[in-house]
Amino acid sequence: MSLRAVKGMKDILPDEISKWHRLESAFRSRAERYGFREARFPIVEPTALFVRSIGENTDIVEKEMYTFTDRGDKSLTLRPEGTASAVRAYIQHNVQAQEPVTKWYYIGPMYRRERPAKGRYRQFYQAGIEVFGDPGPYVDAEIIDMVVGFISSLGISEVEVLVNSLGGTATRAKYTEALLAYLEPFRSELCSDCQRRMDANPLRVLDCKVPRCAAIAADAPSILGHLDDEDRAHFDGLQESLTRLGTPYRVEGSLVRGLDYYSRTLFEVLGKGEQLGAQNALLGGGRYDQMVGSLGGPDTPAIGFAMGLERLLMAMPSEPEATHVDVFIVAAQPSVRAEAALLGRQLRDAGLRVESDLRGGSLKSQLRRADKMSARIAMILGEAEVDDGVVQLKDLQKKTQDEIPRTEAAARAKTILG
Ligand code: HAM
Repeated sequence: MSLRAVKGMKDILPDEISKWHRLESAFRSRAERYGFREARFPIVEPTALFVRSIGENTDIVEKEMYTFTDRGDKSLTLRPEGTASAVRAYIQHNVQAQEPVTKWYYIGPMYRRERPAKGRYRQFYQAGIEVFGDPGPYVDAEIIDMVVGFISSLGISEVEVLVNSLGGTATRAKYTEALLAYLEPFRSELCSDCQRRMDANPLRVLDCKVPRCAAIAADAPSILGHLDDEDRAHFDGLQESLTRLGTPYRVEGSLVRGLDYYSRTLFEVLGKGEQLGAQNALLGGGRYDQMVGSLGGPDTPAIGFAMGLERLLMAMPSEPEATHVDVFIVAAQPSVRAEAALLGRQLRDAGLRVESDLRGGSLKSQLRRADKMSARIAMILGEAEVDDGVVQLKDLQKKTQDEIPRTEAAARAKTILG
């Protein structure tokens, strides 16, 4: 076949969808318990939004965005993440005037032209949250605790929580000087991207995946040694709160993450199960106190995270697929097919999930389909049943059969289904 899905982009067919639904509804209900409300943003945004927020010197902006010019000559980009859109919408709708603290969650596809690998796709789904208007650190700890609890509720037991602080603007300036002093003697050994990054944004060198750059970065001074008093107090507050909540974590001074907008709190949750392979970051997040202001909004502290749904699904223990049919209706003769369709409608109106084979076929073949669909109940309707106002109800699990009044069909089915 010549036409196939784009490399790195996957179809999700009905056999897989129920676990997606389970995951998404578990996330929705967890987020809502913490006061978050859902927001949906466009998949396409002006390219400048991502360049200005994620940062010109990041891998995402330099190499991974799906950017195109539309027919009106505008540069547009398929969103590589959700935070920039959330900030754009927060500013555009003047949300800070309505509520001092805004808590949003979102679920949807994101696009990055990365090298496809197990757990790494070019279209992937994220579920994320963003909090605007609270400088932390207690809200930082609360959302980390919330997501760790969420992951454990999915049956994913082995995870590691990494936290770090990137400090605020003053700390960053001081640290950048120290980092440059360390990197300068290695300049010629760094990859050409990193040589450029040294001049444009030295912190990005710490996130380079090229082995020689990573080895040099490993011995770089840690930003934690450069935190000023306020940043230090913030980071201490985060840790105190996590400890009080009983959330295990490890301070990882080398954690920088691949987006430029972060300041202060930074975190990642890694899965340890073998199913994940090398792409073991289940989620990442952090504080971005400067982004709302730098995109033209009022100075507003903010923090959030996003989880990779494919990775969570890989890490979750598998569950047997549930059936999607409660009742299968069998028309014993062609003459009762219209009546069978009516019975189907009545049962569906009563809230049951009903299937039938409206093409007809032998009694045996229809019952085989009922079995194949793992329907719990078959209801058989023949001419005699229609005349007498009854149906034959077969419990396909218990292998019993009863004749029941048609008026009781829905109620009896519901009792059997529990
Ligand atoms: P991120 O670390 O780029 O952060 O992505 C978050 C998560 O999305 C990753 O931990 C991973 O689980 C998943 N992910 C990323 N890229 C891929 C991919 N190519 N294939 C499959 N899964 C992937 C952000 O996107 C930030 N917006 C998070 C955030 C929200 N920070 C503050 N608020």
